[in-house]
Amino acid sequence: RVALQAQPAGPRGKFIIKIFKDRQIFYIGNKGNDMNVLVIGNGGREHAIVAALAKSPKVGKLYCMKGNAGIAELAECVNVDYMDNAAVGDWLDAHKDVEYTVIAPDDPLAAGLADELERRGHRVFGPDKRAAQIEASKSFAKSLMKKYGIPTAAYEVFDDYEKALGYVREGKFPVVLKADGLALGKGVLICEDLAAAEAGLKQIMLDRAFGAAGNKVVVEEFLTGKEFTPGEEVSVLTFTDGKTIVPMIPSCDHKRALDGDKGLNTGGMGTFTPCPFYDKEVADEVIGKILLPTVAAMNAEGCPFKGVLYCGLMRTPEGMKVVEYNSRFGDPETQVVLPMLKTDLLEIFEAVTDGRLADVKIEWEEGACVCVVLASGGYPQKYAKGKEITFDCPPGKDVFVYHAGTVRENGVLKTNGGRVLNICAKGKTVAEARAKAYDYIKCVHFEGMQYRTDIGIKYNAKG
Ligand code: AMP
Ligand code: GLY
Repeated sequence: RVALQAQPAGPRGKFIIKIFKDRQIFYIGNKGNDMNVLVIGNGGREHAIVAALAKSPKVGKLYCMKGNAGIAELAECVNVDYMDNAAVGDWLDAHKDVEYTVIAPDDPLAAGLADELERRGHRVFGPDKRAAQIEASKSFAKSLMKKYGIPTAAYEVFDDYEKALGYVREGKFPVVLKADGLALGKGVLICEDLAAAEAGLKQIMLDRAFGAAGNKVVVEEFLTGKEFTPGEEVSVLTFTDGKTIVPMIPSCDHKRALDGDKGLNTGGMGTFTPCPFYDKEVADEVIGKILLPTVAAMNAEGCPFKGVLYCGLMRTPEGMKVVEYNSRFGDPETQVVLPMLKTDLLEIFEAVTDGRLADVKIEWEEGACVCVVLASGGYPQKYAKGKEITFDCPPGKDVFVYHAGTVRENGVLKTNGGRVLNICAKGKTVAEARAKAYDYIKCVHFEGMQYRTDIGIKYNAKG
């Protein structure tokens, strides 16, 4: 399925190798005035970023730290712990051919990897540690929104279990409990009654189920949707250099593990774009009341945000409200958004780094894209790794597979995480893309494979 083709020499006397894989063209190798790029991360989001960069004629060799079995087909995987800022810095210092680094996950951003690499003179895509607080501390994000009048659910913050309990006992149900820090998208508990809230507070604050993320807890009002229950949500990711914002196409995530939005919260079980309720009026409201004020607020607080700002929003009877901010691309939102990007991704990244995003025209394909996550049995709780993955047939036109938790051992592809593969498809409508993605899933097998069968049918999604 992979055909290699050498092209004539580029400007620096090097040659281009085009890989035709699954009917897509990726450029690998040196193409002259090209740039070698390191991507930090190892999930489906990073595979989508690496694939988008591999389509750029400006990108030379790609590296990924740590990568996975799918990424390894497009990039050289580097086995360095990206949570060790000094180790990443040392690797880049020793690899002078790598001129640009993209930090995709939240935890190295929160740990100040961008600061460390910039201090050593490397060019980086991703916010610094202070700006990354917008995701890493929910209490920081909530007080930012309160101070600058950005619409969000009413809340209180507690670092004392007894006080939190007292507050919850006096309040309304359902109530939402959120561990303050990073918890892989799992630190949010929606409690229907007092018993559940008491158990939840104990889990977060006393048992430390989410570790130090539970040093503080945010107790939040439960938001309801304008038309749907649970409320309708949209993920709006925006490129920003702190001066200009360029929102990406909106997408809808499915955070719960089971069909019908049942089960536990996960990192995300599937996504689709476009978002059915996101019309021009909603987009204008989001830009005017949320995106621009957030970027301005970060500037006013002395921690300008440069990178991808992710706003998880709910459409409520009072208008659009922020449910969460992230300081990075979403996973699996990126897997449906980047395939629709027509503009060169490296060009956008560099413009953000250099503070000239206003000069870049960013264009998107028409149509829809759907991503279904294939997860290990048991996810988001305990699950097994090391199960062999097999494909009966290659993906058809406009169907593509991003790897998340996979590894190749002695030539055998195996599961290596909770979310294993992302099966994505494009179509004229969400319905068409969804049909193609689910059709291909019939060809994919591993023991314990679990997925939602209803990705892309909420909010009356059609096209
Ligand atoms: P978060 O990690 O903050 O995005 O929360 C995970 C999910 O929990 C969200 O996508 C919502 O579906 C739900 N959620 C979080 N906060 C609220 C809220 N205040 N009201 C209703 N649902 C919420
Ligand atoms: N899909 C949700 C996230 O990336 O946080």
